[in-house]
Amino acid sequence: MAEIVGAIATSHIPAIGRAIAQNLQEKESWKPFFDGFKPVHAWLDRVQPDVAVIIYNDHGLNFFLDKMPTFAVGAAERYDNADEGWGLPVSQPFNGIPELSWHLVESLVNDEFDITTCQEMLVDHAFVVPIKLLWPGAQSRNIRVLPVAINTVQFPLPTPNRCFKLGQSIAKGIESYPEELRVVVIGSGGLSHQLDGQRAGFINREFDLECLDQIARDVSQLFRMSAADLVRLAGAQGVELINWLAMRGTLTGRVTERHRNYHVPVSNTGSAVMILENDPHPSLIRETLHCR
Ligand code: DHB
Ligand code: FE
Repeated sequence: MAEIVGAIATSHIPAIGRAIAQNLQEKESWKPFFDGFKPVHAWLDRVQPDVAVIIYNDHGLNFFLDKMPTFAVGAAERYDNADEGWGLPVSQPFNGIPELSWHLVESLVNDEFDITTCQEMLVDHAFVVPIKLLWPGAQSRNIRVLPVAINTVQFPLPTPNRCFKLGQSIAKGIESYPEELRVVVIGSGGLSHQLDGQRAGFINREFDLECLDQIARDVSQLFRMSAADLVRLAGAQGVELINWLAMRGTLTGRVTERHRNYHVPVSNTGSAVMILENDPHPSLIRETLHCR
């Protein structure tokens, strides 16, 4: 059977992609951020995943305000990137795993998640930057990907609680796939940031650090918040945290935190990376985490 070997959450700020393209990882201003990924590379080397399920939000490249699915799942052979105007080089395409995608789509729909299924899907910086951070250089060609997009852009947004439940249902789908596959789940985005309006530049370091603790220990306070609570505490774009909550939902009730790094600011954002593994002796199984 397919197995979730762990999960990684990371910010996806476009400036990171530019720094990678310009090889600035060792520059003084970038080093504390990129050094935070060295333990992630060592962990990935150890767990050797075959597939990455990437839970992210599209910022207008594939979906625009005229048609905005709340949840969308990719079911393509390959996913192309395209120029979004952030100054990033356009990435090579990514290899999908349509047989796993269709299994997941069927499982989610049977579980009453009415998702949008995408047989063509452009992937933006929120998808590309995490992959480039986790699998530097040519390594990103080897990992097969399964994109899950959550609307964080146009209100009404799905509630944090619903996103957590989506994660639980994704895990159910993955773990019922009959082939042996090692799957890593990636939550993309956050932490606190606001790019426009009167609070442009808003970062809430205290909230971010509390958030990392809660995700690693007891996530129930976070998934009880509303999307509006998240906007207030984390900024208008800080709601990307719902991607992290969906990622967290794919894991068991109790997790082991393998690594974290928080660095602020990167561009306009409180940036963070975290590795979580299912507790080897989970006294709390996934289903015992009660959502509303
Ligand atoms: C920034 C952060 C984001 O999450 C994003 O999608 C675009 C820009 C930033 O901090 O610059
Ligand atoms: Fe973003």
